[in-house]
This record gives sequence, C-alpha cells and structure tokens, in this order.
Amino acid sequence: MSIPALADAELQEVLAFTVALARKAGELILEGSAVIRATGAVDEKKNAVDLVTEYDRRVEELVVAEIKARYPGFKFIGEETSSARAPMTEEPTFCVDPIDGTTNFVHGFPHVCISLGLILGKRPVLGVIYNPFLDELYTGLRGHGAFLAHPATRPALAPARLPLSAPRPFPNLQGALLGVEWGSDRSAPLMDKKAASFTRLGGNPAEGVAGGKMAHSLRSVGSAALNYGLVAQGGLDVYWEIGCWPWDICAGAIIAQEAGCLVAGKHGAPLDNDVDEEILWGRKYIVIRAIGDSPTEKGVDAQKRLVREFYDTVEDFDPPAPKA
Ligand code: IPD
Ligand code: CA
Repeated sequence: MSIPALADAELQEVLAFTVALARKAGELILEGSAVIRATGAVDEKKNAVDLVTEYDRRVEELVVAEIKARYPGFKFIGEETSSARAPMTEEPTFCVDPIDGTTNFVHGFPHVCISLGLILGKRPVLGVIYNPFLDELYTGLRGHGAFLAHPATRPALAPARLPLSAPRPFPNLQGALLGVEWGSDRSAPLMDKKAASFTRLGGNPAEGVAGGKMAHSLRSVGSAALNYGLVAQGGLDVYWEIGCWPWDICAGAIIAQEAGCLVAGKHGAPLDNDVDEEILWGRKYIVIRAIGDSPTEKGVDAQKRLVREFYDTVEDFDPPAPKA
C-alpha cells in the first residue's frame, strides 16, 4: 500500500485541528439535540427510518467551512453533500459524517457522534470520533496508535491508548459480544436475511438453532462510527454491517487498525487489513478486535479465522442502490 507523504508534523497538526473541530461541532450537536427534541423537526430521506435534521446539515456546513478555511486544497466527502460515489484521488480528502446516529440524536439516546476521517492515498490515515453527550473522544493516526479521551469532563486525564486492556483470548464466536445494526434498509428479503443472521449468531445449537453460535449477546449501538470505537477499545468483539457508507466507517477504520483490529470488507475479500477504495465504498464492513498471540495461534491468524467463521454464519446480501 503506498501512501503519499504528508509530513508527520503536518498530520499531527491536522489531528489537532480535527479534534478542535469535532469538539466545536459537538457543541452544535448538543444544542441541536435540545432543539430537535422540542420541535420534533425531523425529515426522512429514502424511507421513514432514514432520518435527517437541520442539524445534520448545519454541522456539515460548519465542518466544510472550517476545513476550507484551514486546508483549502483538501478534498471533501460528506454524508449530506456527497451521496454519489466520486472517483477518489491521491489528494488528502476529509470523509465526514456530521452526525452519526441520527436516530439516537432524534430520540435523545446518547450514542451520537461526529465522525471525521482523513484519507491519503485512498486509505484512511487519521480519524476523530467525538460523542458530545458522553464526552468520548476517539482518535487515531497512522503509525501513532489510537486513544480514548474525555476532554470536557476529565481534561486532566491522559488519553488512554486502545485497546483499553490487554486483549482477552477469543477462541470462537461462542461467548462473544457482537455489534450488529438494524440499518435503514427494511425490505422483506433483507430483513429475513438479517434476522436469520442474528438468530444464528445468538442461537443455541443444543436447543434447535441450526448453526447457532451462542454468542453472549448482540448489541445495536446505533452508530457505525461508535461501533468501531467500541471494537477498538475492546468492549465489542466484532462489529458487522451491510449498508453503511464511507463517512460512517472512515474514521473508525483507522482508529480500529491503530488499536490492533482487523478491518475488512465483504465476504471473501482479502483479509490484509488494507482499507482501500473498494472497501471504503463497498458498503459491507466487518471489524474484529485485537487478539493476543497464543502458544498455538498468532493473533492475526485468529482474527482472520474468526472473520471467516463469522461470514460463514451470517447471510450475505446487497444493499439497495441509492435512488438517483
Ligand atoms: C447510520 C448509523 C447506524 C447504521 C446505519 C447508518 P446515520 O448512520 O451509523 O448505526 O446502522 O447504517 O446509516 O444515518 O445515523 O448517519
Ligand atoms: Ca449521518
């Protein structure tokens, strides 16, 4: 993988800028949450569960304006302005979801974030995810690790390197804690496949669930970016979703990689942890937490084996193409 040079010091500066921007955007998200819950002003995109508010647009406008002022040469991909796939270039490109977890935002369920990724050489190299409700700031920079901080509520505390503790063993999916999402595609064929997948991941093979893995549980946090953060910190073992977009996963992918996770795309794609353009736009995503080496298996081999086991367990399907 060849990543064009942007001097390390420059990337550190971009990271500091992006963190400050995420926190500023976080203030607007908090303000917006109160307004939207008071007014109920919510619009629908492709269907009644694909939500957007004035604040999704306003936060993106803020982000675009600040990036343009500071880095006028950088390109930009954002959920509210770039619904169609544009060819990626080698240029530095911000890839941003202004509010990830809009359904949570509308309901006041406090798992909502802004997700800001930087792509260089068509790969994520820098990521900042900030949940202003819980003051959780995830950061990652290629070659420099990933961290979790609480800048507003615990400013004196040094950011914690991810994963938060030495990885526990992860022999198989039985006993795992898995992140899955309902997403916003709700047709019968897709819902059948998602439901069958969830049944097999959680079901008890000794009590009639054919192929059941008996995972400890499935969690739906409601934000792709925060799912990546949770896998990076080690709280979730795996997160899998079909139907997201690059802005949902770009920042999370580099944070997870820097925390020792394996990030991959669709079933059968190479498990080489190279988040290239195909994976970014592929709309099928899986990430598995760091696993330590054991006497019989290297951690990276365990990650690959478990991703294959996961994909053998769940159904594959294609998300509907967006309306033109
Ligand atoms: C959504 C969230 C959700 C995921 C959807 C995404 P949005 O993003 O990340 O968890 O299931 O696929 O579209 O709409 O809140 O930005
Ligand atoms: Ca969004």
